[in-house]
Amino acid sequence: MRDSFLPYARPDIGEEEIAEVADSLRSGWVSTGPKVKRFEDDFAAYTGARHAVAVSSCTAALEISLAALGIGPGDEVLVPTLTFCATANAVVHLGATPVLVDVDETGLISLEAAAGAITSRTRAILPVHYAGQACDLDGLLDLAATRGIPVVEDAAHAAGSRYRGRPIGTFSQATAFSFYATKNMTTGEGGMITTNDDALAARMRRLALHGMSRDAWQRYHDSESWYYEVTEAGYKANMTDMQAALGIHQLRKLDRFNRRRRELAAAYTAGLAGIPGVSTPRELPGRLHTYHLYPIRIDAEEFGLTRAGCLSHLRAAGIGGSVHFIPLHRQPYYRSAQGPAPGRFPVADWLYEGLVSLPLYPKMSDRDAKDVIEAVWSAVTSRLPARASG
Ligand SMILES: Cc1ncc(COP(=O)(O)O)c(C=O)c1O
Repeated sequence: MRDSFLPYARPDIGEEEIAEVADSLRSGWVSTGPKVKRFEDDFAAYTGARHAVAVSSCTAALEISLAALGIGPGDEVLVPTLTFCATANAVVHLGATPVLVDVDETGLISLEAAAGAITSRTRAILPVHYAGQACDLDGLLDLAATRGIPVVEDAAHAAGSRYRGRPIGTFSQATAFSFYATKNMTTGEGGMITTNDDALAARMRRLALHGMSRDAWQRYHDSESWYYEVTEAGYKANMTDMQAALGIHQLRKLDRFNRRRRELAAAYTAGLAGIPGVSTPRELPGRLHTYHLYPIRIDAEEFGLTRAGCLSHLRAAGIGGSVHFIPLHRQPYYRSAQGPAPGRFPVADWLYEGLVSLPLYPKMSDRDAKDVIEAVWSAVTSRLPARASG
């Protein structure tokens, strides 16, 4: 048993971030100002995208991306069922229909299932880079191109992840990132959209601030500072300078954070190898997996404990765990909106039964990781006395 509880996620915020936020507070620019602009420029440079638009969350980033692409009532958008509700909720908010698609055994949207779900009403594919590993972007972009529809990537888990050597952020029409507290880099709450399309970026900027033609920072610098035009009914989803102050420094640390995440993941993969009934995440070729999550899958029969039993065992050992995710087709809202789906998502159902996310974040020590590994082993050995003693 540990001296202190090990939570499953925790941000790593240093003195640089604290000083930068204090500087924003002192400057008087507590809403969107020069630091948001700097953060956007830094993020665009990091990903290699022509444009980065800072917003209040990844949920807003997804909604604005889809809205800027003209998605609305009557349209269908393909969404993997194994994701956080935000991915599909964003589609619903626009009056469109999320069409849930099964995943493969790594938790990524199945290309085959996506191809089979396309209809004449499909207007976009919205893949999720689950746990920090990129989807089959080549396959998805080809599929979308044959139908003449865009891909919008949900990269909530994938800041700093790579596909074929390039950072996530420039592969599709729009990519949405999250800087929520548990993410690989954080601004408390916050998000970013990257795109290489000039017209789309301009529309996203307008949509993120009421559909107004110029934001407060621009107006402050113009002589006609009072004048603006509302060209469409947009959202109120701008990022603040206090959030950007955090983001500027978190971004500088992102590669270091991700290296540490990969180190801890490698320790888990080695340490958990050979436990009966435990499968660890598989890294796919051509990807840099940044392990926003480290989801293992428990086979209850072989492991001797169900997923719930495993989580209770970890908790009793002073270790937090979680489940990512309860598939959307099992959520009451989506079940009633789309009808029950027994057997329609066999891989997501199979994964879900045994999914357990182990703690993983840069602040964790090697000792913390060892404690987690020992706790998972002890769940098995405590019920196998002959094996434990022999
Ligand atoms: C896959 C996925 N998409 C979207 C989101 C929403 O992110 P945010 O909280 O920044 O809106 C999350 C948040 O956890 C997520 O896991």
